[in-house]
Amino acid sequence: MFTTAAPIKPAMPRDLFSAIANLKRELNAVVLAHYYQDPDIQDVADYLGDSLGLSQQAAQTNADVIVFAGVHFMAETAKILNPDKLVLLPDLDAGCSLAESCPPNEFAQFKAKYPDHLVVSYINCTAEIKAMSDIICTSANAVKIVNQIPADQPIIFAPDRNLGKYVMEQTGRDMVLWQGSCIVHETFSEKKMVQLKIQHPDAEVIAHPECEEAVLRHADYIGSTTALLKYCQNSDRHSFIVVTEPGIIHQMQKAAPNKKFIPAPPLNNCACNECPHMRLNTLEKLYLAMKNRTPEITLPESTRIAALRPIQKMLSMSV
Ligand code: 13P
Ligand code: SF4
Repeated sequence: MFTTAAPIKPAMPRDLFSAIANLKRELNAVVLAHYYQDPDIQDVADYLGDSLGLSQQAAQTNADVIVFAGVHFMAETAKILNPDKLVLLPDLDAGCSLAESCPPNEFAQFKAKYPDHLVVSYINCTAEIKAMSDIICTSANAVKIVNQIPADQPIIFAPDRNLGKYVMEQTGRDMVLWQGSCIVHETFSEKKMVQLKIQHPDAEVIAHPECEEAVLRHADYIGSTTALLKYCQNSDRHSFIVVTEPGIIHQMQKAAPNKKFIPAPPLNNCACNECPHMRLNTLEKLYLAMKNRTPEITLPESTRIAALRPIQKMLSMSV
C-alpha cells in the first residue's frame, strides 16, 4: 500500500521580518511595494507607492536586486528600466485583469485601424502593449500627460475604459478607448455606496479612477492610491468611504490613526474588492524569492527596448 508523502515545505525562519532585513543587506536589495499588498509586506517595504512612484523609484535605485511586491506589469516595468538588475516577483502568477483585457494581437489590429492616432497606454498593460504605445501614463499623471498632447492630435487610450472616460471628462478631449477594465474596481456597487453614504453622512467618498462612471459620480475626491492617501491625511474630515482595494487602508490608518476608513462594499457579500492578483504575494513568498533569487522577471531585449521609450517619455512628462 502506498502512502502519499506530504509535500516538503521549506523551513521558514521564526522571525521573517529580521530574515528579510538580513537578506536585503546581503543582496543589496530594495523592496518596492504597492499599497494593495498585505499589511506585513507593506511593513517590510523600503518604498511604498502608486505605480508612478514605484516606477520613479525603480528608475533611480542603486540596489543590485529589486524585490517587487506588486503585480507582474509593475515588476516588468522595473525590469524594462533596469535590464542589468535582478528583478524578483514573489509570485510570478500575480497578474492583472486589466493587463489581461488587452491581448497584443487584438490590440495591434485595433491600432492599425487608427494610423494617425497617438497611443497613450495606462501602465497596467503588458510589455508588448507598452512596446506598441507612444506614451505610458498612470492614474496619477494621465490627465497631465493628455493635456500636454497637441489638441489636434487624435489619441487612442488603452486599456482601461473607465480611466479613459475620466480623462476625457477632465481634459475635454475625445479619445478612442480600448474597452478593458479592472475586475476589482468594477465590483463596487453604486447602490451599496449610496446606502453607505446615508449611514455615514459626514464621511467623504474617495475613489480610484478605475471605478465605473456611476460610482465616480458620488466621489468627493478621485485620485491615484498615493493621492487618496495624501487627501485623507490633509482633509479636515474624520471619516472616509474608501472606493479602491482595501489594502491601502493599512497606510491610511498609520498616517491618520484618529480617522475612520470605511471600505466601500462590492456588489455581492464577497471579498472581491480585494485584488486576487496582488494578494497572491505573501511575506513567506517574498522571503523565499530573496533567499532563492527566483522567480525572476525576464523579457526579450527587443520588446524591452521598444517598451522603454514610452516609459521614459512618461517619466520626462511627469516632472
Ligand atoms: P495606482 O497607480 O493608483 O496605485 O493604481 C494601481 C492599480 O493597479 C490600481 O488598480
Ligand atoms: Fe490590476 Fe485591478 Fe488588481 Fe490593480 S486592482 S492590479 S488594475 S486587477
